[in-house]
Amino acid sequence: LNWHRRYLQQASWTRDLRAYLFEQAHLSATHRVLEVGCGTGAVLRDLAVPDSDPSAQGPSVRRFTFGLDLDTGALSECRTHAPTALLARADALALPYPDQTFDITCCHYLLLWIRDPLTALREMKRVTRNHGQLLALAEPDYSARIDRPPTLAALGEFQNESLRRQGADVALGSHLADLFVQAGINIVETGVIQPRAQAARRSEEDDDEWEVLRGDVEGIVSRQEIRKLERLDAQARQRGERLLYVPTYFTFGQV
Ligand SMILES: C[S@@+](CC[C@H](N)C(=O)[O-])C[C@H]1O[C@@H](n2cnc3c(N)ncnc32)[C@H](O)[C@@H]1O
Repeated sequence: LNWHRRYLQQASWTRDLRAYLFEQAHLSATHRVLEVGCGTGAVLRDLAVPDSDPSAQGPSVRRFTFGLDLDTGALSECRTHAPTALLARADALALPYPDQTFDITCCHYLLLWIRDPLTALREMKRVTRNHGQLLALAEPDYSARIDRPPTLAALGEFQNESLRRQGADVALGSHLADLFVQAGINIVETGVIQPRAQAARRSEEDDDEWEVLRGDVEGIVSRQEIRKLERLDAQARQRGERLLYVPTYFTFGQV
């Protein structure tokens, strides 16, 4: 699976929300912004700006973009997608930056993968300056996933089982705001990302989804069962009856 392509797909789901939240967080006047768990740079590349952007309005602010991840392979790919970003290989549970380094610290599809998300949030808070902004841009709650028609409900259950086996907290999104409160971060805004209309889905996105799914549920169900579900999924899409909804939460906080 091409992970960068998958991450770009996830980033496309949150593009409008990110544009809104980064405007609220005054990204254009920001000196230092960090993405924790930046992966291949699908989100980080949008945060990096060229040193002198002739179309920039108002006094130009030199922005330094930082990315951090545990995965060396992802980071080397990130280097090509966000070439101006300053990258570090480190653990979100022990950020290698002094206190109050960043104006904005953010993450995107990260906390569900972290065994101690509260410690990660506390670390993100520590490295963010007073009155700086902390953005958890997208954390799903797969435990509340809806699959229609009901013949496809098993698909969600299999995928959730696979995510659990890979170490994910499948319900992280539903307690994201509580984690902010526990970490002592003031919440400015929290909510659920608006789902895109199913009609807007492109068929190659469905193919990607199935590639992820096949990898996920292998070892949990038989190939035969997977093929059957894939067929049911395709038929339901053709009839316009397919619904797949995973509530995905964001929280925007101030330190
Ligand atoms: C689903 S990917 C998301 C990547 C990127 N944020 C995006 O949305 O495109 C999650 C990333 O978090 C990283 N990650 C997981 N646990 C981590 C940890 N404890 N410290 C730093 N990075 C971590 C993984 O290596 C992976 O690149």
